Amino acid sequence: MLKINNATKSFAGILAVNSCNFEIEQGTISALIGPNGAGKTTLFNCISRIYPIDSGEIFYWDHRLDLMPTYKIARLGIGRSFQITRTLDHLSVTENLVLHTAGGIGNHLLLPAITRENKLKADEIMEFLGIASLGEMDMGSLSFGQKKLLDLGTVLMADPDLILLDEPAAGVNLRLLEDIIDKLVTLKNQGKTILLIEHNMDLVMEISDEVIVMSAGEIIAQGKPTEIQKNAEVLEAYLGSEA
Ligand SMILES: Nc1ncnc2c1ncn2[C@@H]1O[C@H](COP(=O)(O)OP(=O)(O)O)[C@@H](O)[C@H]1O
Ligand SMILES: [Mg+2]
Repeated sequence: MLKINNATKSFAGILAVNSCNFEIEQGTISALIGPNGAGKTTLFNCISRIYPIDSGEIFYWDHRLDLMPTYKIARLGIGRSFQITRTLDHLSVTENLVLHTAGGIGNHLLLPAITRENKLKADEIMEFLGIASLGEMDMGSLSFGQKKLLDLGTVLMADPDLILLDEPAAGVNLRLLEDIIDKLVTLKNQGKTILLIEHNMDLVMEISDEVIVMSAGEIIAQGKPTEIQKNAEVLEAYLGSEA
């Protein structure tokens, strides 16, 4: 479904993504893991074409994403969240969700009319996330955890087939973590494909079909969670980064 072919991206001498190759299958959950600065977010930014790649190819089915503008990528059915939660705190939760129906990523200048259709969609998503009563609340009054859930909600508003999540559970408590795991598995069972960047190894090992490990811009391993857990190179990349 998604295929990264020798993708390379550098910033003023820093090789953030260095000849990366991997493929993900439809209907699976894959985790992209690796130490801070490994290049994970940059790779997401290349997939969603926030940055052009210097060389290589990125395919979504037969489409070359690396040759496509960002808004077209959203329309193809690819949704993503950002590592830093981006919300408009003075608007209501429903309004924040509706903002994401129209043009996808980056198209936040105008609030689309809250039509019956997108209000129903927002309600359905809040129901799914277990926050059905929050629609009229100001975004700014929500807790950190509720905002993390809504991050996932905003991605779902465009009804994507491929969902890219940058640290969807970072900083959340254990109960919410279990809740997020449950939602992600439900989405997979509905036929969605998920690629997530995640530091929480419990979450990664519990829900991933495939784990892709990045270190210093390179993919150093890919495999089933049980294989990755005993991979010596992976262990070294983590231990090395903590020293
Ligand atoms: N816009 C940018 N300009 C310059 N350097 C960047 C930019 N984005 C990321 N980098 C650098 O690329 C490397 C990988 O960063 P990033 O993709 O954020 O890593 P990760 O998400 O794995 O923690 C880091 O060295 C980071 O400083
Ligand atoms: Mg990152």
